[in-house]
Amino acid sequence: MASSTTDTDVYKVSILGNESIHCGFHLIPYIAQTVLTTLPSSTYVLITDTHIAKLHLSAFEPEFERALGASTVTPKPRFLTLVIPPGETSKSREGKANIEDFLLLHKCTRDSVILALGGGVIGDLVGFVAATFMRGVKFCQIPTTLLAMVDSSVGGKTAIDTPHGKNLIGAFWQPEYIFIDAAFLETLPTREFSNGMAEVVKTAAIWNEEEFISLESHSSEIFAAIQTPSKDHAGRSKSTRSRSQELLLSVIVGSISVKAHIVTIDERETGLRNLVNFGHSIGHAIEAVLTPTILHGECVSIGMILETEISRQMGILSQVGVGRLTRCLKSYNLPVSISDPRIANLPAAKLLSVDRLLDIMRIDKKNSGPAKKIVILSRIGATHEPRATVVPDIVISKTLAESATVVPGVPSQHPVVMSTPGSKSISNRALVLAALGKGTCKLRNLLHSDDTQVMMAALSELKGATFSWEDGGETLVVAGGEGSLSVPPKGKELYLGNAGTAARFLTTVCTLVQSSPNDNADVTVITGNARMKQRPIGPLVTALSANGSQIQCLESEGCLPLAITPNGLKGGRIQLAASVSSQYVSSILLCAPYAQESITLELIGGQVISQPYIDMTIAMMKTFGVEVKRRADASGKLLDVYDIPKGVYVNPPNYSIESDASSATYPLAIAAITGTSCTIDNIGTASLQGDAKFAVEVLQKMGCQVSQTETQTTVQGPPIGQLKAIEEVDMEIMTDAFLTATAVAAVASGRTRILGIANQRVKECNRIRAMIDELAKFGVDCIELDDGLEVIGQPISKLKRGVSVHCYDDHRVAMAFSVLSTVIENTIIEEKRCVEKTWPNWWDDLENKIGIKVEGVDLASLNASGSTSESSKRSPDASVFLIGMRGTGKTFVGELAALSLGWTFLDADQYFETKLKIGVREFVHQKGWEAFRAAELDILKSLVADKASGHVISLGGGIVETSAARDVLKQYAITQGPVVFIARPIDEIVKYLNTETARPAYEEPIIDVFRRREPWFTECSSHDFINPVGEVNNDALCPIKASANRNEIARFFKHLTGVEPNLTHSLEPGRRSYFLCLTYPDVQQAFPYIDELTEGADALELRVDLLRSEKGYEKIGDVVPSVAYVSEQVAHLRRVTGLPIVFTVRTKAQGGAFPDEKQKEAVDLLKAGLRLGVEYLDVEICLPEKSIRELVAKKGTSQIIASWHDWSGNMKWNGALVKEKYDIAASFGDIVKIVGKANSLQDNFVLYDFATAIGRQAGAKPFIAINMGGDGQMSRILNSTFTPVSHPLLPNKAAPGQLSFKQIQQALHLLGLFPAKKFYLFGTPISHSMSPTLHNTGFGLLGLPHQYNLFETKDVGEEIKLALADPDFGGASVTIPYKLDIIPLLDKLTPAAEAIGAVNTVIPKLVWNDGVPGRILVGDNTDWLGIKASITQRLSASEIQTALVIGAGGTARAAIYALQNLGAGTIYLHNRTTKKAEELAAVFPDARVKVIEELKWADGQAPNIIVSTVPASATTTSASDDGNGSLSLPAFAVLVSPWICGRCGHGL
Ligand SMILES: NC(=O)c1ccc[n+]([C@@H]2O[C@H](COP(=O)([O-])OP(=O)(O)OC[C@H]3O[C@@H](n4cnc5c(N)ncnc54)[C@H](O)[C@@H]3O)[C@@H](O)[C@H]2O)c1
Ligand SMILES: [Zn+2]
Repeated sequence: MASSTTDTDVYKVSILGNESIHCGFHLIPYIAQTVLTTLPSSTYVLITDTHIAKLHLSAFEPEFERALGASTVTPKPRFLTLVIPPGETSKSREGKANIEDFLLLHKCTRDSVILALGGGVIGDLVGFVAATFMRGVKFCQIPTTLLAMVDSSVGGKTAIDTPHGKNLIGAFWQPEYIFIDAAFLETLPTREFSNGMAEVVKTAAIWNEEEFISLESHSSEIFAAIQTPSKDHAGRSKSTRSRSQELLLSVIVGSISVKAHIVTIDERETGLRNLVNFGHSIGHAIEAVLTPTILHGECVSIGMILETEISRQMGILSQVGVGRLTRCLKSYNLPVSISDPRIANLPAAKLLSVDRLLDIMRIDKKNSGPAKKIVILSRIGATHEPRATVVPDIVISKTLAESATVVPGVPSQHPVVMSTPGSKSISNRALVLAALGKGTCKLRNLLHSDDTQVMMAALSELKGATFSWEDGGETLVVAGGEGSLSVPPKGKELYLGNAGTAARFLTTVCTLVQSSPNDNADVTVITGNARMKQRPIGPLVTALSANGSQIQCLESEGCLPLAITPNGLKGGRIQLAASVSSQYVSSILLCAPYAQESITLELIGGQVISQPYIDMTIAMMKTFGVEVKRRADASGKLLDVYDIPKGVYVNPPNYSIESDASSATYPLAIAAITGTSCTIDNIGTASLQGDAKFAVEVLQKMGCQVSQTETQTTVQGPPIGQLKAIEEVDMEIMTDAFLTATAVAAVASGRTRILGIANQRVKECNRIRAMIDELAKFGVDCIELDDGLEVIGQPISKLKRGVSVHCYDDHRVAMAFSVLSTVIENTIIEEKRCVEKTWPNWWDDLENKIGIKVEGVDLASLNASGSTSESSKRSPDASVFLIGMRGTGKTFVGELAALSLGWTFLDADQYFETKLKIGVREFVHQKGWEAFRAAELDILKSLVADKASGHVISLGGGIVETSAARDVLKQYAITQGPVVFIARPIDEIVKYLNTETARPAYEEPIIDVFRRREPWFTECSSHDFINPVGEVNNDALCPIKASANRNEIARFFKHLTGVEPNLTHSLEPGRRSYFLCLTYPDVQQAFPYIDELTEGADALELRVDLLRSEKGYEKIGDVVPSVAYVSEQVAHLRRVTGLPIVFTVRTKAQGGAFPDEKQKEAVDLLKAGLRLGVEYLDVEICLPEKSIRELVAKKGTSQIIASWHDWSGNMKWNGALVKEKYDIAASFGDIVKIVGKANSLQDNFVLYDFATAIGRQAGAKPFIAINMGGDGQMSRILNSTFTPVSHPLLPNKAAPGQLSFKQIQQALHLLGLFPAKKFYLFGTPISHSMSPTLHNTGFGLLGLPHQYNLFETKDVGEEIKLALADPDFGGASVTIPYKLDIIPLLDKLTPAAEAIGAVNTVIPKLVWNDGVPGRILVGDNTDWLGIKASITQRLSASEIQTALVIGAGGTARAAIYALQNLGAGTIYLHNRTTKKAEELAAVFPDARVKVIEELKWADGQAPNIIVSTVPASATTTSASDDGNGSLSLPAFAVLVSPWICGRCGHGL
């Protein structure tokens, strides 16, 4: 189409005296023509980013070419384009230089005109180039994001970022034109659109209420304008503009006009212009922490709400304003609090402490001196002052804090007279009635809360009514839709948060939606947050479905989300179970008049709950013109049957909503508990609400004076501390008030029994449980009853102080406990914001209207200690409890564990018998199971109390059968010490138990017992030990396998108790450490090569995401390995190596194979890893913060590697992002791992600089810093902590660019970081020695550059001295005859060399003397280590009892030293010359060496280990008489004596 500009309609806005802002749709031809005709130039340069170039550049080029073609100027002007990378990183000095180089290269001159096409990044960057290029050239802004249109392009601020901060270098430089083409927004991602809407809402909020009203009521139309692409340039001319396009443009123009006006008055930001910083003071601080994950507008959105809360707290803005702003921002998908899941789930969110935010705010440009300035709203559309207002820190920090504490005291406003917010129940009913009604209804005193906001938003979305505000928002005007409702646009769900009332009411409302003839495939979907999805709605769905409505539960049966087909409500007879919630009844009643037939509603299923709410609904329906008849039987007794006629509600012109009676219970209770008086207006005897009876039915009976008129209630409390308990009160008609009653009862003398509140278990949380658990923290006991609870009151002085109350996101829990905290010091109410549901300004009202001071508490900084774990607070010698089925080997494992820990083993059954003087079996026989379980519980309690340290305690298999015992164990595992579940395959247990008799037999199939108990075992334990051995009894074991198992038992228990954590020692700075990444689907494939594979490795990484069981292997697509398979894999690995395991579940986004969306499964696997006692756990920092905290809490002695991987290549090691990620990772990790991607060799040096700088910081954590890819290999050589390595024998590399240990050593050498050292063998004669071959082969295999040579000399003389003095000397072996002669040349001997009295190894060691490095020579003797290793391969240390050493030379010395070290009992020493043996024995006075002349020993004293140190040729020895004849022993043989293992045939 021949473009013409004549049919283009633009709005022009003037700024700084020029009409330079031109707004419209599809402006490209218009832009080309305007620029070329009004800004003559030789060169036009359009600069944009790659995203936008792809979408829009092709439209610009022909327009400019055409216009230039028509130009008569000679030479013809040029049109150049430059496309740069998108994103904030381009807004840098380098980015600016690139553009400048381009301009210079193309010989651009002073007259060039630059066009900035793009978002704020392009605008700021290109604007700054224009400001300085050739001392300033002309430029135009063509913003393509909403943010750029309404904010960054207007005002002339340009800037770039530096690593020190954003926008620090820049200039004011006004563009010639700003072309706002709203059609660009059609390609903008919606999140970016919302980002800009934050600024639009901001501008309206400070300046123009009318604009604000338009924004708050039209979000869906405004979204529609960008979501439907306009064809054929629709919108370019006014005649082709759709309604929503017009609306969008007017919103943009409105916003720009305000900004242009403010800029014109105050271009350089001296006062008025500060107003546009509304929301930014706090918003910027949040952004500084969350950037770049959370966008500017999103942070400003939260900032605006926090800043309005400050206005409210200062008593300047009413809750109405806060509520409207909140709802409006939410309707544009913007977050309004940092607890929004989009933010709360980010690990960075935990850095948002109040102190940190205040700290960042300190450097705000608006501040004057140290005082902070914030834009304070006085109402929507107006600010308190024409500039930002000074606000004290204390006020800001109170608002920012997530938790509150109440300062106990007498209310200073006493006697208090106040009204409470509108009733939630009445507000919600009124909204539905007025929306369904005919005509306009003005609602007054409507509650501004989450619930009503959700309800209004949903009704608007259904096009059921339109809402507008009057009286500065005090009055809501509802234009009723008379029951006409339509399905929301496809893909748009009605999200109800945790608003139960809205969910129940709207379910029936949605059945009323009529199908539109052309779009009958659609359904209405209502959904909520996680808690809402658990709250029941089943009976309502059942009743409506039975009546013919089509309602589908999309996730779990009887819960949200629901998909409701629009085909109207049929009507007729409906049966409804009404014992769970009266809201089901009200829901049907409210909608009933609009059914196709009149409805008869019959309530079934027993006792109807909360009748007063049903009566309330009926009363309100009457006010709106529909009369419901409740049937009665002949005797006049009311029945639960209601007749509702068909009809249409007639809206009364005005309706005033009664104050909330449940809310009123809090100030009244405060009067009761503090001995003061409180009068609540607008609630009295005439109230529709059951809770209005609270004062008379509860407080009066507790000893208060209560007076009530039709419309007023006054309570005067007795003197403080004199409240009395009520023996029994049925609160069925005021269930919501039971929490308040419970809080008061806690300090009333006596026991208060509250009944009729069973339904409170299925509210926002299980409220009965919540009250019991939280009161327990104060030391107040309660007893849970079927339909209520009994509170055992305590004197105020007895209650615990300093309690932190968890509120379960339940407003009533929070407010009930704030009542109690008016008399109990230092009570912290966590999650103070949950009151928003019904009384958003509760804390302000508590302070301002009641006169009780409230302070903010920052839990974030209280918890800032970061990586503390629950279990690290345990005492290191806390006893270990073992649980598991009978027959899993608890005793076997327990005894060995105790031996290796040096602790005492205790069998609970035996303890039982000693204590009760009767065996377990006999006890059950005599007294039955129940009595036994009770006795067993007592025993458990006494074990926990009396054997709390230094014991390994094996418990009976049935200990988990009672919940009381489970609680004891769970508590122990959390607060005191490890509880280990010993697991073993069930079929083996069955086999084993068939032969065992010590315990009473099971009365049911053992398989069933196992199934029932298994989840309990897991629930009660902190760790799993998988006992893989085929047989639990040790006598039938093969010694090699057995010793692997024993070593593993020792490793496992020493690690988890912390007695000897199995951690790598080489993580300190200056040392290098490596882990090998196992990439097998099944680690058993590695076993044939395990020794070669693990050479040089300090740990093994188990890549859990790559594990595949046989079943999983065949599956195509995503596989999540089962916990069972992974546990098995860990157990397998433990059998072949004691190296620490790094347990990693790498997600796809982070370069692994684990599906990203399976976060829960990933966390479950990580938890399983900790249970299995893995030493290192890799935790990705992008996991939800809650999960991270959980893992940290459970880590015990294991360590967390907090990791972050950037695969995009965008992360710069000298940028802000990497620092941010490091900070997050370091905040909870013991080790930090950051992986980037190198695009050049250079990137590795930047990485190295970063890592070095980090390493210099005080308290730096071990840091793994690596670049992926071939270009990044260098970083793997430079990295020193836990460098992940691969091995040529592995199936594939875990990451591109990964090197082997050998390759890294070679590279280090070539780089000069790893000089070659000289190693020698000193001795004579040595020419036949194999040592050089062995060593040099080893060096070669590991890629070490060293050389090992023979050094044969006739004595220890000058030659050896010279060799030792050489700085390249790496070490030496010393052999006969110099093992003693060498000693004078050495500086120090190791204890072993000292004891053995000979040196076979010389090691040069680096030492520091007053900061000066020096070298000493250390003599060691390693013979004993070889001997020790040979022994422990076959027997665990604990099994070595009696040993025999043959020979009395130097090696025999080493053998005795090894055996002594292993804790052997008697060591027989036999030598041909007994005298020599005796001399040797004398060297070891502490070892029990017994010289024997003949191989003979006392009965039962036969050695179970023999070490022969004499050459084979010399040893044909005759064994003892009872032995098996003669033994021929090779030199240095270490034998497991056949006297113990003859049965299995192994070991010889
Ligand atoms: N100068 C000022 O007064 C001022 C005011 C506010 C913000 N800023 C600056 O603005 C910058 C942020 O601007 P932004 O939010 O526009 O981000 P942006 O420029 O990075 O754009 C956001 C993303 O959207 C893409 N995009 C832009 N237009 C598009 C379109 N029409 N269709 C599809 N994709 C499109 C971009 O390529 C980019 O990836 C920040 O650097 C901030 O400092 C400046
Ligand atoms: Zn902004």
